[in-house]
Amino acid sequence: MRVFSALQYLPVFISVFSLSWVTKAQTVPVMFYSFGSEAGDTVYTADGNENSTVINLESPFVFFGRTYNNIYANINGYLTFKQPSSDYTFQYFPINGSEDIIAPLWTNADVSGNDIIAYQQYSSGDVLTRTTQDINHYFPNLSFRATWVLVVTWDQVDYTYQSNAASLFQVVLVSGSDVSFILMNYGDCALTQNMVQAGFDTINSTAYYVIPGSNNGTLIPNLMNSSNVNVPGRWVFRVNGGSSLQENVMGIQLRVTSFSDLTLTKNIEIFLKELQEELVKYGLPDSVKLNLRGIKKAQP
Ligand SMILES: *[C@@H]1O[C@H](CO)[C@@H](O)[C@H](O)[C@H]1NC(C)=O
Ligand SMILES: *[C@@H]1O[C@H](CO)[C@@H](O)[C@H](O)[C@H]1NC(C)=O
Ligand SMILES: *[C@@H]1O[C@H](CO)[C@@H](O)[C@H](O)[C@H]1NC(C)=O
Ligand SMILES: *[C@@H]1O[C@H](CO)[C@@H](O)[C@H](O)[C@H]1NC(C)=O
Ligand SMILES: *[C@@H]1O[C@H](CO)[C@@H](O)[C@H](O)[C@H]1NC(C)=O
Ligand SMILES: *[C@@H]1O[C@H](CO)[C@@H](O)[C@H](O)[C@H]1NC(C)=O
Repeated sequence: MRVFSALQYLPVFISVFSLSWVTKAQTVPVMFYSFGSEAGDTVYTADGNENSTVINLESPFVFFGRTYNNIYANINGYLTFKQPSSDYTFQYFPINGSEDIIAPLWTNADVSGNDIIAYQQYSSGDVLTRTTQDINHYFPNLSFRATWVLVVTWDQVDYTYQSNAASLFQVVLVSGSDVSFILMNYGDCALTQNMVQAGFDTINSTAYYVIPGSNNGTLIPNLMNSSNVNVPGRWVFRVNGGSSLQENVMGIQLRVTSFSDLTLTKNIEIFLKELQEELVKYGLPDSVKLNLRGIKKAQP
């Protein structure tokens, strides 16, 4: 009878095991670059501490005019360049601090969990071909050719007090043709009560970006459906800085209370200056330059 009861218990154990595995696994969206030990990545596993792993770059990376040879991938979901960082409580961007930061999803990770950071650098092969195609698609006039790519993936990221989050996100650093880019890819990221933020910031915040909604934990699951390049879950930024700052085109519609001819250069200069002052109030750096692309009169 002992043997019989042991057999009865066995299937129960097996199903509990596979159930917890199934809830953790998630489909990896197609725009992700392959990652993990199967892809040949170096895999760093959380060991209960707020650790970081240093990546010695095979090719220097230029981030807003500064050239770096090392990157620290920090367990709480962000990259730093000068030193490792264990901060899980943080200031929101713009910090106006002394660090350059790339934060695909900065939050309070549960470092006792299954979190891994997987990374790999590429200087030849399919990954460069793919990156070259992607960047030329998003920035069609650059004739870009990728010569170096670093893929860093955070997988199975649980949050402190939320051990079933199992969030997945990735950042891809790209260099070539004297420019640099970052791509951020989001899989299924769980909502969180913790502080959270996605974007990048620079020393003295001369350039920074916060993905809209990404600093509100309840909106984190939306990241997988949001984009600035029309690919759900992907955000792409040109980050070399210097003379070739990122150009964004925006359309605005306004109703004017008194008529002034906006096709006259003098009027448009006054208008752009006022618009710039307004945007700076909403957090744009005051170094931002506005240029008129076109103007169209609509019926009132
Ligand atoms: C992680 O950090 C702890 C505490 O600072 C340290 O003892 C440990 O060696 C670190 N582990 C790794 C893999 O760096
Ligand atoms: C940024 O910090 C510097 C001091 O390091 C200060 O002079 C400057 O006013 C700050 N800028 C903003 C926008 O807070
Ligand atoms: C890119 O180049 C094409 C033709 O070469 C031109 O029509 C288009 O306006 C350019 N786009 C930008 C954003 O400069
Ligand atoms: C940042 O601002 C501080 C204080 O204004 C200044 O001393 C420093 O040179 C600036 N750093 C950079 C990299 O611009
Ligand atoms: C976060 O987003 C939710 C849903 O849109 C909203 O109800 C809430 O007020 C937001 N919280 C903050 C702090 O903005
Ligand atoms: C994201 O889009 C997918 C496919 O359209 C949808 O199934 C999912 O519910 C969306 N997620 C969120 C958080 O909006």
